[in-house]
Amino acid sequence: MQEKKSIHGSWASRWVFILAATGSAVGLGNIWKFPYITGENGGGAFVLVYLLCIALVGIPIMIAEVFVGRRARQSPINALMDLAEESGKSKSWGAIGFMGMLAGVLIFSFYSVVAGWVLQYIFSSASGALNGVSSEQAGELFNNLLADPTTLLMWHTIFTIMVVIVVIGGVNAGLERATRIMMPALFVLLFVLFGYGMSTDGFAQGWSFMFDFDFDKLTWDAVLVAVGHSFFTLSLGMGSIMAYGSYMPKRASIGSTVLAIGFLDTLVALVAGLAIFPIIFANGMDPAAGPGLMFISLPVAFGQMAGGQFFGTLFFVLIGVAAWTSAISLLEPTVAYLVERVGLKRSSATIALGVVVWAIGILCLGSFNFMSDVTLFGKNVFDFLDYITANIMLPLGGILIALFAGWVVKKKHASDEINLKSEGLFNLWLFVVKFIAPAAVGVVFILNL
Ligand code: TRP
Repeated sequence: MQEKKSIHGSWASRWVFILAATGSAVGLGNIWKFPYITGENGGGAFVLVYLLCIALVGIPIMIAEVFVGRRARQSPINALMDLAEESGKSKSWGAIGFMGMLAGVLIFSFYSVVAGWVLQYIFSSASGALNGVSSEQAGELFNNLLADPTTLLMWHTIFTIMVVIVVIGGVNAGLERATRIMMPALFVLLFVLFGYGMSTDGFAQGWSFMFDFDFDKLTWDAVLVAVGHSFFTLSLGMGSIMAYGSYMPKRASIGSTVLAIGFLDTLVALVAGLAIFPIIFANGMDPAAGPGLMFISLPVAFGQMAGGQFFGTLFFVLIGVAAWTSAISLLEPTVAYLVERVGLKRSSATIALGVVVWAIGILCLGSFNFMSDVTLFGKNVFDFLDYITANIMLPLGGILIALFAGWVVKKKHASDEINLKSEGLFNLWLFVVKFIAPAAVGVVFILNL
């Protein structure tokens, strides 16, 4: 087959692809969500299930997404249709891409609200408002923020505009530049915070909370949350990584690249947990405090640390950037599709989509105040969207992508494109996407019903 090119551009090198895909993967999912759901689900055993899911399900599915995108060089819906056709199968497989676009829109809506909290904390921290706060005061500050829809709306709006601007810039000018400098800086600062966690007397307790496997605390619901989160944190199941893969240079090896991304993403989540839980325990806070966990623990730590005002501000800036580089990838598949299919200009497509996600986001931020009594299946809008996307749509999308890569695409096409070092490794991958990953996720689904 003659090599195709994406009309949207391509990454300058394999390294830039790693940065962009890691930028997509590493985000609020690692630093905000992972610690708080670990806290809610009892720690150790949950972490173990999450790690298993990353290795056994996440990495193989990420390989599948990258290769489908790169082979077709189009947005996910068109990529799926194209490869299905190339293998003589039905184009209706493209429907997976539609569900993915919907998931991306819904995730963006609550993601942007949380990113807005981060932006607020940059300013609270820089102004000195967090200096020396006690854990009660930190909790109160967070609750006051949630109770204030005007401020939430302002930050949600600003964040949405930031993302729209980068996505309009496109692959090279926008996505690439945003990731290059900021990601390495985030790593460094996380390790500083980890070092601080080690110096507190909560470190041993934090460590054992995360790594002592107490299976009595594990429920099937927790397992589903761990499965769902492994998709969420690797940006899988909705086409983000597929879209990014379609901009990946041909020469780069998919296997080692994906391993690098999975490793970095997991490292960030674990280090974030090891930074946050010691602070929680050293200050007698509750690890199951929920979505506010990061926002009530970190200010306390920075408040006590020498130079905390500076480091705290910088840290929230970097989390904001991590959220930014992730949110971009939530919109990219849909924007690319609108450009390919409807023929919109990139800028018009992005703005139109931006308006939609912004509007849905208002319902999410309202969950904490003016809409707190609106519930769907017993959850407020924010929790509901988080739940159905992470725990249902992404794993379902992931299973379908695995089945697509394993059963629909001809074996020869997959092995040409993935080009793993050995035949044995390829067959292992194929076995996992054909059987193991769909079965594992399917069983967890069924046991949850
Ligand atoms: N992975 C990102 C995070 O952990 C969020 C994200 C970006 C995402 N793109 C995605 C989640 C696609 C699911 C699907 O913060």
